[in-house]
Amino acid sequence: MSDPSSLPSVAVFGLGIIGSRAADHIAAAGYPVTTWSRSPRERMDFEADPATAAGNAQILVCYLKDVPAVRDVFEKVRDSLGPGKTFVNHATIDHDTTDYLVTECARLQCGFLNAPFTGSKVAASNAALVYYAGGNAGVLERLRPFLEATSSQVMEVDSPLAATILKLTTNLITASTVQALAEGLKISLAYGISAETYLESIKPNACASALANMKVPSMAEGDFDPHFSLSNMLKDSRYMIDLAQRAGLETPGIANTANQMQKRNDLGEGECDFSILFKQFEES
Ligand SMILES: NC(=O)c1ccc[n+]([C@@H]2O[C@H](COP(=O)([O-])OP(=O)(O)OC[C@H]3O[C@@H](n4cnc5c(N)ncnc54)[C@H](OP(=O)(O)O)[C@@H]3O)[C@@H](O)[C@H]2O)c1
Repeated sequence: MSDPSSLPSVAVFGLGIIGSRAADHIAAAGYPVTTWSRSPRERMDFEADPATAAGNAQILVCYLKDVPAVRDVFEKVRDSLGPGKTFVNHATIDHDTTDYLVTECARLQCGFLNAPFTGSKVAASNAALVYYAGGNAGVLERLRPFLEATSSQVMEVDSPLAATILKLTTNLITASTVQALAEGLKISLAYGISAETYLESIKPNACASALANMKVPSMAEGDFDPHFSLSNMLKDSRYMIDLAQRAGLETPGIANTANQMQKRNDLGEGECDFSILFKQFEES
């Protein structure tokens, strides 16, 4: 652990599946930490409101859920931002909100880094997130040691918007793959082929993935304990469709998967893992 007096102070906003684990790693690395989340948490570093948590922190980091959460918290900590401060967004957000954070941080003369990530609950527990990071000149170099407290890789990209686009377009593959795995598993089971055999057939195939290894067994067992929630994948799919539409593109694959997710969400399954998509076949 580094000498805490030499490290910048950090405020972490959003103690969900990822933020709670990231905050633990940041504190364990020796950074002085304050935290805030919408629902109170039993933590020594927890503050009752975002402005108090922001206080004099030099780095303000959010692992919040979505666009409304990020915009709302940003407005509540705005007075704490200025020269010498940096706002770091790790939430998966949309095109407009990325632009908004770039503009507002420039107006406030604070640093801004947009660093959405890949890696789920297990990766967060192991400080092995992978960040797609784009920001103001010099910000990433300065923050790299800080980001390494929660990650195994930091991939620098050209701009904050590029980070958002790469996060969303890679998540498109994840959502679409789980939809395809759910369909393939259901067809295999309907013909008496077990989930184990289905997964074994995938492993030497070019379509093999860590995602298949994770999701085929859990879908077959009906284990939908959230690693990445359906409601979060659903909002990301809406942001993906918005990106496509801005580029004048129709994307029927993700549009269909989003509709399937919306149906499960409407049934009250939003906080289950997004692989609960597998249950879409129960209705037919
Ligand atoms: N989990 C993953 O595998 C994964 C992977 C890649 C990217 N991401 C992205 O990373 C971000 C965090 O993911 P997560 O899985 O940790 O999400 P999560 O478990 O749903 O946690 C979301 C956090 O946002 C807070 N929140 C929700 N709505 C809010 C609002 N209106 N105002 C203020 N706070 C609000 C929640 O507060 P309370 O719980 O205190 O109410 C919670 O702390 C999301 O953008 C997600 O898409 C997640």
